[in-house]
Amino acid sequence: MPTAKVVFATITGNNEDCADIITEALEDLGVEVDESEISQTDAAEFEDYNICVVVPYTYDEGALPEEGMDFYEELADLDLTDKIFGVAGSGDVFYEEFYCVAVDAFAKAFEQAKAKQGATPVKINLAPESEEDLDQLDNFAKQLVDSYQAAH
Ligand SMILES: Cc1cc2nc3c(=O)[nH]c(=O)nc-3n(C[C@H](O)[C@H](O)[C@H](O)COP(=O)(O)O)c2cc1C
Repeated sequence: MPTAKVVFATITGNNEDCADIITEALEDLGVEVDESEISQTDAAEFEDYNICVVVPYTYDEGALPEEGMDFYEELADLDLTDKIFGVAGSGDVFYEEFYCVAVDAFAKAFEQAKAKQGATPVKINLAPESEEDLDQLDNFAKQLVDSYQAAH
């Protein structure tokens, strides 16, 4: 079975909750998962895992997490060929065109690092509470594992 690294950024806990749900869903599928907070993590740690996940918040009308900027820049410079990636995150639909833009930005950084997108990005409005939120995050985890298995 694959291994996975789930890295989250959070201020008020919503993205940590999303990361916890994804981690649990991956573990339920038999994946060995390490979860960590972005400022405590080097992007190069992804080199040691099969499935790489980032769960970032978006702030200040489209800003990436400030404590994750080093991580973001390092990520784009890595060579993650053969790795499966997924990005999910919580934002607030109130911010309209800036809704969860950090999710899209991290997906671009993974693409620059030549990783393969293994799941459709998931955007959660505020706390992951509804049945639909939980289903989307569970399905995200399943897609990642399916993509890994299809490639191996
Ligand atoms: C000052 C401020 C700016 C924000 N800007 C955005 C934004 O541009 N886009 C977005 O989707 N959410 C924005 N949000 C909402 C947060 O991303 C949202 O509350 C998210 O759930 C916070 O995640 P966390 O609980 O993991 O910190 C903003 C929130 C605050 C307080």
